[in-house]
This record gives sequence, C-alpha cells and structure tokens, in this order.
Amino acid sequence: MRVTINQIKEMKPKGEKIVMLTAYDYSTARLLDEAGIPLILVGDSLGMVVLGYESTIPVTIDEMLHHTKAVVRGTKQAMVIGDMPFMTYHVSVEDALRNAARFIQEAGAQAVKLEGGVTVAEKVKRIVECGIPVMGHIGLTPQSIHQFGGFKMQGKTPEAAANLLEDAKVLEQAGAFAIVLETIPARLAKLITDKVAIPTIGIGAGPDCDGQVQVINDILGSFADFVPKHARQYVKLTDIISKAVTRYRDEVRDGRFPAE
Ligand code: KIV
Repeated sequence: MRVTINQIKEMKPKGEKIVMLTAYDYSTARLLDEAGIPLILVGDSLGMVVLGYESTIPVTIDEMLHHTKAVVRGTKQAMVIGDMPFMTYHVSVEDALRNAARFIQEAGAQAVKLEGGVTVAEKVKRIVECGIPVMGHIGLTPQSIHQFGGFKMQGKTPEAAANLLEDAKVLEQAGAFAIVLETIPARLAKLITDKVAIPTIGIGAGPDCDGQVQVINDILGSFADFVPKHARQYVKLTDIISKAVTRYRDEVRDGRFPAE
C-alpha cells in the first residue's frame, strides 16, 4: 500500500518531519522507494537537470507523463506526485482538470502539484473535488521567473509576505493536502507553517517547515551547471562519474577492458 495523503497530513500534528525528493527515472525512484522516502515528486525541474533546458518553462506535459510513468514503475510504497508544467493549468478549470487527470490515469501518479496561490485556487478546488490530491507550491515558483526577474527570494517585503500567507490559507481552503514553500525567508515560512493546518514542505525556506524537499541531483552532486545555495551535497557524483568513465575510456583504449 502506498503512502496516503491522510498519513502525510497526520505527520504535522505529531511533529514528524516529512521527507520529499524528486526523481525522474525508474532506477533512481527504486532507490528512493527502498530508502523509505514517502513523497517522490516528478518535478518539472526535469527540464533543467535531465533535459538540459534553461528553465522549467519549455517542459511539456508529454515529457512529464513519460518520466512520471517511469517513476511510478520504480516505486511500491511512495506517493508519486506529478508536477503540472507551465500553462497546463492556467487557461481554464476544464484544462487544469483534464491535464491533472492525465497524471493520475495515464501515468499512475497519486497526486499532482501546481504552482501559485490565490490565482490557481479555483482550479485546485475543482481538481480536489474530482478526487485528485493536490500539493500547492508558493514562493519562488520557477514557472514565473520572468515575472520575478530571475530565481530570486520571494516574500521579503511585508506586503509580499502577507500575500504569501494569504496564498497558503486559500490553498488550504481549496483542499490542497500540503504546500511547498520555495525560497522565502525562514521567519515567513515558520509563520505560514504555524497558520495552516496542512503540512508545509520547504526548499530554501529554513528549518521550521513540516518537511523538506530537494532536487535529487542537488543532494547527489550530479548537476554541474548550478548548485542552489540551500542544497547540501551528500556526495559529488560528477567527480565520481568522471573518474569512472575516464578509467573505462583508458582501459578500452589500452586493451585492459574487456577481460578474456
Ligand atoms: O520541479 C521541482 O523539482 C520542484 C521542487 C523543487 C519543489 O518544484
């Protein structure tokens, strides 16, 4: 039986920290599942760390579904959350519902995530009413980088902080089961966490959220282009992989591989 949204929601009052990571392929998802990671997000960060786009904006729903299917195949216990890409939930409630349904019906995910607060609340409400769990995402929402003028911390002014608190409350009312808080001041993340009954999952939002999410490539050191300030590299796979392929290259060239 996979982790359910009820189990996730029950962790908040018990003070149990919620662990979430991204995954984009079968093999990695299997390792995370076997390690007992309860929430696996097939993030649209896929676009940057796997597909080599400059931002998450070019990611299509077909790309997301393709990778979500692989992650679902690699997991037995984790709840798999499919990230709805840019413009797949903005145009109309019908559009949002149809696209959310594709993650559940075609790809086998158990929930979807979408970015925004007040502006997407109506869509969140309808998706939830139709039986699809929704995770919210506010703060530095990467699909809005052009509006923000880059990957910049959000919620720094009193007005911006008040808007984010309002976004969180509206998402809770719309039926979201949890909310990602990305790159906002730690004090604001704590305030939001205290003011909503659903769990908050932080990324670059300090230690007081109910849980934490990281992009798997950032904690494994396998994405060389950019390391976010909030990430901790538990290993540096870029170095390990470079050494291994260099050895392989040399051994093939000088005949040491393969063996007899
Ligand atoms: O796309 C993603 O990986 C995300 C997380 C960073 C929350 O949205």
